[in-house]
Amino acid sequence: MASDTTAEKLAPGEARCPGVSVQDLLDKDTRPVPDYLRDQSYEFLGDADIPYSRYLDRDYYEREVKDMWSRTWQWACREEHIPEPGDYVVYDVGPYSVIVVRDDDSSINAFRNACTHRGTKLRQANSSGYFENLRCPYHGWTFDRSGALVEHLCEWDFPHVNTADYGLEGVRCDTWGGFVFINLDTEAEDLHDYLAPLPDHVNSEAFENRYVAMHVEKELNCNWKIASEAFLEAYHVMETHSQLMRASGDANTQYDFYGDHINRLINVAGSPSVFLEEEMSEQDILDTFLIGDRSDVGDPLTVPEGGTARQVMAQFYRDMVAEGGGADLSQLTDSEIVDSIAYFVFPNQQFFAGVSFPIVYRFRPLGRDHEKSLFDLIILKQKPLDGAAPETAEPYRLKSEESFKIVPGMDPYIGEIYDQDTGNMEAAHEGAMTVGQGGATLANYQEIRIRHMHKTLEKYVGTLEKYVGPDEI
Ligand code: FES
Ligand SMILES: [Fe+2]
Repeated sequence: MASDTTAEKLAPGEARCPGVSVQDLLDKDTRPVPDYLRDQSYEFLGDADIPYSRYLDRDYYEREVKDMWSRTWQWACREEHIPEPGDYVVYDVGPYSVIVVRDDDSSINAFRNACTHRGTKLRQANSSGYFENLRCPYHGWTFDRSGALVEHLCEWDFPHVNTADYGLEGVRCDTWGGFVFINLDTEAEDLHDYLAPLPDHVNSEAFENRYVAMHVEKELNCNWKIASEAFLEAYHVMETHSQLMRASGDANTQYDFYGDHINRLINVAGSPSVFLEEEMSEQDILDTFLIGDRSDVGDPLTVPEGGTARQVMAQFYRDMVAEGGGADLSQLTDSEIVDSIAYFVFPNQQFFAGVSFPIVYRFRPLGRDHEKSLFDLIILKQKPLDGAAPETAEPYRLKSEESFKIVPGMDPYIGEIYDQDTGNMEAAHEGAMTVGQGGATLANYQEIRIRHMHKTLEKYVGTLEKYVGPDEI
């Protein structure tokens, strides 16, 4: 059990949960463990409160719009959302709107969603579809898939308009892992530099060889950062998701951060919470594993003498994928198969690299309201090796009061976990309003990803603090 006295003997940020660590479990992996899993990259970043004004103040939101959303890489869609020339998706964040379109040569272009005549939005927010040419609904100026102006009525009246200069305003666009990323800053660093070291840790194919099996868009009554932060730590698991404690580590989760834009957690499966009072055998753990979306297991699995539940589950998954005609996972570690290895990419996206439950999150302000947000949850599944592309799931929109359990195909066990998470978010936002001044107090280690995110946010927008805690932020 955790001892409250442990932290007193150590410098801030050095204390760790007693008991088995992620690295201890990696020692028992049945495959050689790659360096990126062995890596630990944490340092103490201070312990000052995070002012609530960052979530509640309109000024802060305006600064985020001006200086952060306009300069960061964000995934706009998956490549399979725009498979054919002319297919497009509109990505919106705050006031910004970007059209992402597949060009005739299969490359992908992105433009600001605004006509160069008098600025009219060319396609509706969050829409998608196909166009031959992009025609403005106001006066009919028409652009091709490369963004060039190809037609405008009454050219005789625009002797001052050089057609070549009136193409749509380009937006940076690149791909990684089957995701299409955009950046409104034409001077931005390259996507792959921005993502470093993620592409070195996780092979792009881990996400490329997948398709969107489920897509949920959930409206939330909270600032977008409150929503995102609920998934940046496992500290909440024992209180919020106590049903997970029998088979999932919580306080022994490993946290790392890299540069400004990337941080991660490794949350182990098949290792009970250190706070669980009952004794559990490896077989008990394995039996607990086989719930939720794993209820389709046929014959009961057993843990062999000297083995672990993690090893059995990992092998079960390798065999299941191979039998289903999927990828050869024989070289992947048990950890890469059963654990949550979640990478956060600043400002608003999270990629779970564990192969048995590959999920991706994205958080944005909902419209231009800083007190509401939109949470995109994508569940990816492995494409069959024969190349047949399964259909891309359409987004299923949930209102803030609706349960994840009503989403068609959602495992009710997983739906319950997301309901628990989103329930916390609204309460956190409302509580912050009640407090007024003041700020959120973070754990030194378990909530370092939240602090890291805020440190980077400060680099883009400054502090603008109306409340300053006992120390400098
Ligand atoms: S505003 Fe688009 S054609 Fe006039
Ligand atoms: Fe959670």
